[in-house]
Amino acid sequence: MNSDRSIATVSDVPAESTLLFRIEDDDGEAHEAVLVDTDDGVACWQNYCQHFTHIALDKGSGAAMRDGEIVCENHGAYFEADSGICTYGPCEGATLAPLEVTVEDGEIYLTDPDFEYLGPGPIDDDDDMTSTSNVKI
Ligand code: FES
Repeated sequence: MNSDRSIATVSDVPAESTLLFRIEDDDGEAHEAVLVDTDDGVACWQNYCQHFTHIALDKGSGAAMRDGEIVCENHGAYFEADSGICTYGPCEGATLAPLEVTVEDGEIYLTDPDFEYLGPGPIDDDDDMTSTSNVKI
């Protein structure tokens, strides 16, 4: 398995929350994704609510979860961690966008052909060149 696509180990995935990481699509655009522990093993979803798809479920410190469901803290949608289906809320019936992962020897690899693994954590929106910290007043 290609170590460039290694996301984390199974033991890194929290029991009642999500593990956030970054991916890149074929156009070079970065996206966020989460790993979540389920009764059937590790599942992987793009980190966007299906009510408003620019809203992150995991905002950087783990998504809220209740009884095996990921909770969107914006308007209270619930998504089954294993199927990604929204069971309650404004987007009931919609499904989170899945990503293909493979577990081998306790290591989780991104095996989705449409995305490359970028790294752990959120996309850093503050990473721009407009800082004025060196400007003398
Ligand atoms: S943005 Fe997630 S429920 Fe509205």
